Amino acid sequence: MTILISQPDRRGEEEEEGRRSTTTFVDDLVLDGGFVTPKDVVKEGGFVAPDINSYGNSFRDYDAETERQKTVEELYRLNHIHQTYDFVKTMREEYGKLDKIEMSIWECCELLNDVVDDSDPDLDEPQIEHLLQTAEAIRKDYPDEDWLHLTALIHDLGKVLLLPSFGGLPQWAVVGDTHPLGCAFDESIVHHKYFKENPDAQKPDYNTKCGIYQEGCGLNNVLISWGHDDYMYLVAKENKTTLPSAGLFIIRYHSFYPLHKSGAYTHLMNEEDRDNLKWLKIFNKYDLYSKSKVRVDVDKVKPYYLSLINKYFPDKLRW
Ligand SMILES: [Fe+2]
Ligand SMILES: [Fe+2]
Repeated sequence: MTILISQPDRRGEEEEEGRRSTTTFVDDLVLDGGFVTPKDVVKEGGFVAPDINSYGNSFRDYDAETERQKTVEELYRLNHIHQTYDFVKTMREEYGKLDKIEMSIWECCELLNDVVDDSDPDLDEPQIEHLLQTAEAIRKDYPDEDWLHLTALIHDLGKVLLLPSFGGLPQWAVVGDTHPLGCAFDESIVHHKYFKENPDAQKPDYNTKCGIYQEGCGLNNVLISWGHDDYMYLVAKENKTTLPSAGLFIIRYHSFYPLHKSGAYTHLMNEEDRDNLKWLKIFNKYDLYSKSKVRVDVDKVKPYYLSLINKYFPDKLRW
């Protein structure tokens, strides 16, 4: 079933969200999902979002009985056992060398076409669809923030870590929600029970609220579990992108749901983190709710995104 969703008048919300630009809607967003009915369409923070995913469940419902539920839980079990402070340090050093391959952002988008994210209970579409759906949905609502469009396009490119030419890392080291290491595992982290088997859980220094960190130290000083977020952040930063700090923050922490959804670990943030978190929360609505059976005409939008890549990443990238 195809439904047309009219965009609401959201001027009041735009003021509330500060730097949002004046919005004009060129097209209505068309969602084509067999489970979505008009009564399922809810308004959330200025974005019209379906409240069920393409499996007919609530978004991010980790207890729903779906064909993917077992796969998702097993991924988190392994993630919580194997992601330790030392593991993350090793991965950052290894992948920070950027000695795997040279390619452009768009080449990477195409490469990602083969990847399906096992951690995602909402989607089993090729990743390039998700990238373009997210970017195009944001572009409609924030037409002047071109950095945000590009951020959306590239936010998941780090999932190439799953491919053999990037080391073929297991899903638990690439996808799923992220969390800090070196301090206590917050109860809000999905499938928290599996941390019992993590070696870090036995280290007293790592199990207080601040752990090895100082309050307000800034997230840049906090080690976060290894995956596609941090990898793409390293790639963008080391290749000297001119994306603003908020764009890099979104890329680096978009899977950090304990922070941006549950409000955990905010005591580790500094002023810049707090500013950037506002943008991450805006971005997250699109990252989450634009996942549906919408098809984007790749050839039609490609020239626009190539121009943004040229602007923010003028050279071929090292990965
Ligand atoms: Fe992601
Ligand atoms: Fe995403």
